[in-house]
Amino acid sequence: MVNSASMTSILVLNGPNLNLLGTREPDIYGATTLAELEELCSGWGEALGLAVSCAQSNHEGELVDALQAARATHAGFIVNAGAFTHTSIALLDAIRGVALPTIEVHLSNIHGREEFRHHSYIAQAAIGVVAGFGIDSYRLALEAMARHLSSASSNAGA
Ligand code: DQA
Repeated sequence: MVNSASMTSILVLNGPNLNLLGTREPDIYGATTLAELEELCSGWGEALGLAVSCAQSNHEGELVDALQAARATHAGFIVNAGAFTHTSIALLDAIRGVALPTIEVHLSNIHGREEFRHHSYIAQAAIGVVAGFGIDSYRLALEAMARHLSSASSNAGA
């Protein structure tokens, strides 16, 4: 067991309709519930030395508030903005404004789906995007975040 006080904090933020995971279009999004996914993210994070906190909202403004509030306490964000990915300049601006490393994730491969899902506002502010691997998209994003933060801190010490 790693002492969480010494771990870097990451916020995993899920947007609209992701509270329905497990029952929502399981052929696309899988059978894992949001609570199970959040538990998995905590475990994956802990193994990487990251203290993961999770939040979900169906409301754009609450997602903006969550990003702003996490600014003081977190080192980075993993964001699945759901449908707001494709519509929300407010979330793009929040991520740019808070200026913490952000990785965009999607359970599904948004580029293999309807045209309107191909464009992401979030991607413009993200250090990278992981899409199409189901819940593994979050595991891969946490791994990428751990590497990004450790290379950023070793560069800072160089
Ligand atoms: C999603 C993809 C979005 O297009 C969709 O609106 C979602 C989920 C995904 O994780 O695959 O709600 O972000």
